Amino acid sequence: MTNARPSRETGMQGTVRGDVVAPDEARQIVLDTYGQVAPIGTSVSDAMYPEDVLALLPESVKELALGVGHPCGFADLGEGEVVVDLGCGGGIDTFLAASAVGPKGRAIGLDITPEMVIRAEEHARLVGLPNVEFHQGAMEEIPLGDETADVIISNGVISMSQRKHQVFREAWRVLKPGGRIVFGDMALNGPLPMEVRKHPSAVAG
Ligand SMILES: C[S@@+](CC[C@H](N)C(=O)[O-])C[C@H]1O[C@@H](n2cnc3c(N)ncnc32)[C@H](O)[C@@H]1O
Repeated sequence: MTNARPSRETGMQGTVRGDVVAPDEARQIVLDTYGQVAPIGTSVSDAMYPEDVLALLPESVKELALGVGHPCGFADLGEGEVVVDLGCGGGIDTFLAASAVGPKGRAIGLDITPEMVIRAEEHARLVGLPNVEFHQGAMEEIPLGDETADVIISNGVISMSQRKHQVFREAWRVLKPGGRIVFGDMALNGPLPMEVRKHPSAVAG
């Protein structure tokens, strides 16, 4: 996604097929779900990462790996780059990004759930990398300035948004010209029954 940049005025257009739950309701489901998950941890995805990558991380970070892929493995991160991790959770990919970009770079994790940001900050103290920061906020309204990031990563988060066009509009705004976005997520290859699309565990899962 390095070319064909839409204008900042118009951003990305189009119909979002997933809008079956009102955005405010979906947001509350997400906050409730991940507010409960954050203190417990329940790794569903550390198997996505190579063993040598996992060896770099404390157990509690791995126990709170909830994504569906390994975006840093595809992002070709370079020294000195600024990386933003949308929906960072406990911070696993933010830490991997911080490690890849080195002390001249920066990794910024963003998560909407306050309990997750608290966990990520606890993890940051354990990991001890100086170039990581975490912010609470929504990926639909990224609390960062224009052209902040060289790379945006995300792992198992964008599919949850009822306003995906707004997520990508914000991503374009925050990315520097020529920047890139690399995310792991779920995609449908067929329609889901309406009762599944509306179910809270599907909205937040
Ligand atoms: C499945 S977890 C993935 C966490 C992390 N990326 C990982 O791989 O472990 C989804 C995370 O996205 C966050 N999230 C959901 N909707 C969000 C939004 N609109 N803006 C920012 N974060 C969001 C949740 O709070 C949760 O921490």
